[in-house]
Amino acid sequence: MPASRASPYINPLVYNGTACDYLDFLRQTSGFLPPDATPSLWPVTAEHIILIGAMGVGKSSVGRKLAKKLKRPFFDSDQVIEEKTGVDIATIFDYEGESGFRKREEKAIDELCRRQAMVLATGGGAVLTAPTRKLLATCGTVIYLKASVDMLLKRTRHSDHRPLLNVPDKRQVITELLHQREPLYLQTADHTIDTDRRTVSWTANRVLQLLDLTPEP
Ligand code: S3P
Repeated sequence: MPASRASPYINPLVYNGTACDYLDFLRQTSGFLPPDATPSLWPVTAEHIILIGAMGVGKSSVGRKLAKKLKRPFFDSDQVIEEKTGVDIATIFDYEGESGFRKREEKAIDELCRRQAMVLATGGGAVLTAPTRKLLATCGTVIYLKASVDMLLKRTRHSDHRPLLNVPDKRQVITELLHQREPLYLQTADHTIDTDRRTVSWTANRVLQLLDLTPEP
């Protein structure tokens, strides 16, 4: 693991193994960990695959397909937040504003990063705050799924659950958001995939190819 990817949650003076050994290490050294220790005890590892990109680019569809191919768990940070709070994202925006939502997003991603190897689809604005960008970069391999404004517009035309897109001129908002966020996506990502005119399957296979991974039988 390159130094820049070293997990900030492992004390290298004490623990020098792989993430997979970590629970055993904790059991041996603490002696009191129950056999069903919760995933939150896992350190952040570089094994996670994290998908970032604009609303409607297909992070969840690609992530689900990828997780199935790799036989890994799949998480969608928005869904996790909704399950935790019991309300939808639009309601969180209404009551707490975008800044309240971003705090919940950072916390949810931080907790997810401590799980065993998974595929994670993040919300389109997860890269907006510096702490979450740093978290994503140390959490695993980050893939930016890129698409043109036309494609994003097409893919979100029937969507009514995204508070930022509940506007009369979706094209203008998508264009502005992409202009503001694209440098942040590029700066956070290890790899970029152009998904315009690509299917979900093609994109998932491209991720496998880029990461030199083979589907689990
Ligand atoms: C947002 C994207 C949404 C969701 C929230 C805000 C954004 O997720 O997190 O509505 O700021 O781009 P998706 O990218 O999954 O739609």
